Amino acid sequence: MVSTKRKRKKFLNSNTPSEAYNVLDCNKLPSHVAIIMDGNGRWAKQRKLSRIEGHHKGAEAVRTVVRTSREIGIPFLTLYAFSTENWERPEKEVTALMVLLKHFLRSEQKEMVDNNIRLDAIGQIDRLPEDAREELHHTMMLTQKNTGMVLSLALSYGGRAEITKAVREIVDDVINQKIDADTISPELISGYLYTQKMPDPDLVIRTSGEMRISNFLLWQIAYSEIYITDTLWPDFSKDEFVDILKNYQLRERRFGRVFFQ
Ligand code: FPP
Repeated sequence: MVSTKRKRKKFLNSNTPSEAYNVLDCNKLPSHVAIIMDGNGRWAKQRKLSRIEGHHKGAEAVRTVVRTSREIGIPFLTLYAFSTENWERPEKEVTALMVLLKHFLRSEQKEMVDNNIRLDAIGQIDRLPEDAREELHHTMMLTQKNTGMVLSLALSYGGRAEITKAVREIVDDVINQKIDADTISPELISGYLYTQKMPDPDLVIRTSGEMRISNFLLWQIAYSEIYITDTLWPDFSKDEFVDILKNYQLRERRFGRVFFQ
């Protein structure tokens, strides 16, 4: 029997589906990739389509990135699918995004189960409409024992809201003498965030060329590598994703330290 690691290496060295795989070092992959998926609206506008059609096309790119991450062997993938600020969009668009989420989850359940992907969600999940929330919980339940990759959807997520919630819980625990204020440390704070069971992202990708973080994983990305591409999210392809991973592998991560040659 071929071990998963050998199988992966064979896959990465094979001629298909992309030549780019040949030079990807499977021993230097990011443990956690987080993506700000931006540009669905502009993609649609360029084609005189509705923003909602742009989101539908964006969902196809989600599928591609999830499959590619799993094939390559990235352990954690987090996708910014809906921010706390996105509730302010026109009601029609918000409703369409929630319906799209529900249909996406339903259509991907089998693939997630078959490919050993565990679905997780971060954010104010209780704000989602009931049917979308139920589909989300159902998918999380179906995939809860999977060990191949964790796909986290950031839904009604905001970094400031997450940190505020953590501060409130820490204060409660201090008042109730569950923890001592002297023990509050960066590690303890990380343990109060939605992402407590994940490593911090090694790589944050943002599509559509905007140079901002938009309230995404504010605490967790302190030392993440950032890659911004002009590509609009619906056009984001497997080949570009692999190229970005190759670029990541060329970077020297210093975490604020100095390395002498
Ligand atoms: C940003 O593009 C994108 C969003 C707010 C939603 C992201 C949703 C998807 C990628 C599709 C559905 C996802 C799942 C998980 C089913 P924008 O609308 O802000 O684009 P613009 O900046 O060009 O207007």
